This record gives sequence, structure tokens and C-alpha cells, in this order.
Amino acid sequence: MSVGTYGLPKLPYAYNALEPSISAQIMELHHSKHHQTYVTNLNNALKSYATALSSNDIAGQIALQNAIRFNGGGHINHSLFWENLTPASSAEADPQTAATLMAAIAKVWGSLDEFKAAFTKALLGLQGSGWGWLVKDGNGLRIVTTKDQDPVVGGEVPVLGVDMWEHAYYLQYLNGKAAYIENIWSVINWKTAETRFKGGPDDVFKVLRASI
Ligand SMILES: [Fe+2]
Repeated sequence: MSVGTYGLPKLPYAYNALEPSISAQIMELHHSKHHQTYVTNLNNALKSYATALSSNDIAGQIALQNAIRFNGGGHINHSLFWENLTPASSAEADPQTAATLMAAIAKVWGSLDEFKAAFTKALLGLQGSGWGWLVKDGNGLRIVTTKDQDPVVGGEVPVLGVDMWEHAYYLQYLNGKAAYIENIWSVINWKTAETRFKGGPDDVFKVLRASI
């Protein structure tokens, strides 16, 4: 039984393009080392899973599920995260490029600033490693957090995700989590968020399927 191989997606900007919000050193390590490791481990786990499947080894299949979830989630989450970011000077960093999403945010939280405050509170409330997400659930919007590398794959659309693992900010911000969150708003790609908001879950994950 043959299985597809997942690859590390290219970043749509240079490693230093998000400075000063996120340093080039963090971006390079985060993409070329951390994300690459999730991809490598996912491919290895899927290969072993295919072997366990073809040999009717149910214990072997179950034993591999955590590795598939963790590394597959890591690959999904980081692929979505890179596309959620853009240089502060780009047109996509302007929330005005996301008129439909802004109207929906205003309906739920009152204003973009109030949404940012609620999202920040959720991110700071995360215990240990995880992610914060703005998701479209049916026609509504809500904020969710996920532990470790659990991805948003329950039918909601992950509109915007922020990596709250220490590897995402520690080299630059040390324990200053709040400053990391405050500065990341300057490099959010609102155009990507708007496109995801207007589409369904399949549209979001299409990008990932293409890299098989
Ligand atoms: Fe990460």
C-alpha cells in the first residue's frame, strides 16, 4: 500500500519579512526546523500505519494514532499559520481588505479592538502549549483554543490561528507572551482571513491536499 508524502510548504515571504514583530531567527527555526520535523514525523508515522494496515496489525495501527494526530496537526496548524501572516507594509495587513469579516466581527464583539482584546485574553489563558483560533462555525464566529497540536478539523473553518508554543516567540520575547500577541496584530494577513471566512472547511484544507 503506498501513501502520499507531505512536504514543507514554502513561505510566501522571506524569513526577515515579519520583523520587527517576529524575528528572522524565529521564523527560520520555526519553519525550517520545527515545521519540517512535524512533516518528517508525519510521513514516517503514515508509512508505518500503512504497513500495520496491510498486515492487519490493529494494535500497531492504534499505537500510531497519537503520532499521526500530533504531527499531522502540527503540519496543518503551521501551514495555516504561515498564510495568516504577511509583512506589515503589505496591503493584506490592512483590516480594510477584509470588509465582510470585519462586519461579522463587529456583529459578535462590537469592534475589531474588542475582538482583539477577547482573542488576546483567550491566548493568554492557554495553559502549556497550544493555539488560539478564530473559527467560523456555521455562519457565526467564535474564539477557540486547542491544546498541543490539535487542529481545528471538526467542521469549523479556521479563519485565523496564532501559535502560542514557546518556540513561536521565546527567542525574541522571552516570557513576554503579551508583547508577542500585541505585535503579531501588525503582521496578520487579513486578506487570507477574509478568503477563509467566505469559504468552507474544504477550501481551507485544499492547500494541504495539494502538497501530498
Ligand atoms: Fe509552532
